[in-house]
Amino acid sequence: MAAKPKVFVSRIIPDAGLDRIKEHCNADIWPDPLPPSRDVLRARLADCEGLVSLLTDRIDGELLDAAPQLRVVSNFAVGFNNIDVPAATTRGIAVGNTPGVLTDATADMAFCLLITAARRVVAGHQYSLSGEWKTWEPLGHLGQDLFGRTLGVIGMGRIGYALARRCRLGWDMPVLYHDVYKSEKAEKDLGAKSVDLDTLLRESDFVSVHTDLNDKTRGMFNAAAFKQMKRTAVFINTARGPLVDQRALHDALKSGTIFAAGLDVTDPEPPLPDDPLLRLPNVVIAPHIASATVGTRNAMAEICAGNLLAGLRGEKLPHPVNPEVDTTRRKG
Ligand code: DGY
Repeated sequence: MAAKPKVFVSRIIPDAGLDRIKEHCNADIWPDPLPPSRDVLRARLADCEGLVSLLTDRIDGELLDAAPQLRVVSNFAVGFNNIDVPAATTRGIAVGNTPGVLTDATADMAFCLLITAARRVVAGHQYSLSGEWKTWEPLGHLGQDLFGRTLGVIGMGRIGYALARRCRLGWDMPVLYHDVYKSEKAEKDLGAKSVDLDTLLRESDFVSVHTDLNDKTRGMFNAAAFKQMKRTAVFINTARGPLVDQRALHDALKSGTIFAAGLDVTDPEPPLPDDPLLRLPNVVIAPHIASATVGTRNAMAEICAGNLLAGLRGEKLPHPVNPEVDTTRRKG
């Protein structure tokens, strides 16, 4: 019987995927709650054919060169900005991700942040606990209405569409979007209107980001962008922290340039303890938990295992990021 392929799993993922990996591979599983250091990753990968990585593992050419037998990297995430994909492709290493299964959970979190920030729920909760609550206040705790207000979606992919659908069908919101691609589906189903970024920023009551992080989008939400938004606008980010210039966001929130923000992602993660953003009353920050439901994480684990095992067997990955890498050339 052929020896099982050696793989490194950089964190404990749900059994829904891990059990299959353990069954079919000689799996070295990193047991700590914190990610392995770069040196540990390099050492553990030296004789591995497969890797299950997380968005906290930086996978670049230098690391891949230290893993001469590596054939497949299966990222336990839909986003893959932690991986230098061209570097993997050049080395003939297949990369997989987990699209689709976290769409609804992430759209739910975007909506949760939207309504929480718009209605000042967290500040209200802290007020209730503080003992300051003395009476019902006609002018206290005023937030923003949702019904019929305009949603602006940047990046009308699966998650952007799922949020827009919730807002259009549930809260009767007109939807504007900005994307390099036209979304026939969003236009047909939801009456969404494609606009340039400036128009979207100027006209939206809620601005929600669902775009990839790359060299073009890094820092796109800067002081100039916040200045274009309405003073009543609520800004939502469930995509990636570095899309936002966090100092500019802080200044926009503090000066009242925008009304509030709801973030599931920050830059860095976690935010530095002395980041002044943490002390503002009009920001809600969740610890990157948009996909954190039992069902979603199980489904991600299943896909992640499926990608890994397919790559090791010399089959096409079910969810490839670089399909140009021909995994079938090397049957496992
Ligand atoms: C992803 O999958 O990219 C999310 O950020 C974490 O689930």
